[in-house]
Amino acid sequence: MAQHYFAQISPGLEALLKNELKSFGARKIKLEEGGATFQGTRKHLYRVLNQSRLANLIYWTVSEGTAPNTHALFERVMKISWKDIIAPAEEVLRVSIRVSLSRHPEFKGTGEVESIVFRAIERSLESTRKVSSALWNEERMQSHLRVLVRIQDHRATIRLDTAGCLMHKRGWRQQDGEAPLRPTLAAAMLKLLNWSTDEVLIDPMCGSGTIPIEASLMAAQASPRFWSRYACHDWLSFDEELWQAEASKGISDQQGTKFHNHIYASDVNPEAIALTQSHLTRSQQMVQVSQGDVRHLDAPNQHRCGLILVNPPYGLRVNEGEETKSLLRNFAEHKERWENWRLGMIYPRQLTPPAPQGLVGKELARFQHGGLPVWVWEFSHLKTE
Ligand SMILES: C[S@@+](CC[C@H](N)C(=O)[O-])C[C@H]1O[C@@H](n2cnc3c(N)ncnc32)[C@H](O)[C@@H]1O
Repeated sequence: MAQHYFAQISPGLEALLKNELKSFGARKIKLEEGGATFQGTRKHLYRVLNQSRLANLIYWTVSEGTAPNTHALFERVMKISWKDIIAPAEEVLRVSIRVSLSRHPEFKGTGEVESIVFRAIERSLESTRKVSSALWNEERMQSHLRVLVRIQDHRATIRLDTAGCLMHKRGWRQQDGEAPLRPTLAAAMLKLLNWSTDEVLIDPMCGSGTIPIEASLMAAQASPRFWSRYACHDWLSFDEELWQAEASKGISDQQGTKFHNHIYASDVNPEAIALTQSHLTRSQQMVQVSQGDVRHLDAPNQHRCGLILVNPPYGLRVNEGEETKSLLRNFAEHKERWENWRLGMIYPRQLTPPAPQGLVGKELARFQHGGLPVWVWEFSHLKTE
């Protein structure tokens, strides 16, 4: 039976998510700020959980409708068939609740809504399972059930987090390195730049390796995630056989390490190189890794075209993005080397896009990263007849 779901992404990137959901066979996709609602069966949910490279979270909408006051909200939450969702178990069910309120004259604040929703779940499950409240935590599976409650204009939407953690936590990451990019954003950048998986790719400031690793997983058509357990595995509706069928689509491609000799990663910092190498091993991918300074970047193996994709140190105060400027200068001034290349870059919106002479710059998207407004630009050489 088709259910209603909501997939979340950084605001500004919703259109990319829509295309991805479409490719998974999701139906009735509607964009909202920061995500998209869609309809699908459990097969579609399992496919999105296993294969989505872009979504941060996938929620299952379990109730939606009017809730003009606290009593109506309690009744609405009580009516959800929690006993048919949550499997009985000895362990106390840890529930975390997150509330968003807007235009809600009848509710005093998020704390009040949280407590109503908690009491309604507790009451509804009282004969089957003890319930305790847990903090909302982005670490993996800290609670058994994460409930998102949205109240707006007398309407309530109650959603359950199907993964149990932010999905950009891929499982291959051991350590973060310096200002790492979220893997979901690295995948979004590759899609924004229309990177085709056989195009030569260089990340000359690779840090912990997020861009080359996401690119190699895309090239290997492998699932981006390496966890075997999600929140929905504990639900009564969990279908192991269907899950295995969807999960194995990724795993079958992940047998043995894949070497992508057209993907290059480098960094000036030897520790970043070591971290990238270890993340590549954990994700069962291999790319061409070397240590080097972006200011002396050259086209590897005399490749004549490809994509350079960078997430430079933002350097707002430290040195005002000196590396970024010098990379752009190198790209602009060595036309004989870079004429048929594209250069993609993410950087803070406080910085004006530097556009050295001879280059054309195009803004591809703007969104938030690490609480900072950023944009993604693509630079290429001005074509002369
Ligand atoms: C914002 S971090 C990149 C983070 C990376 N995308 C990740 O997800 O881990 C910027 C990287 O640029 C590197 N870097 C700084 N100056 C450099 C230079 N002159 N040449 C090459 N790499 C440089 C730093 O060592 C750091 O790893």
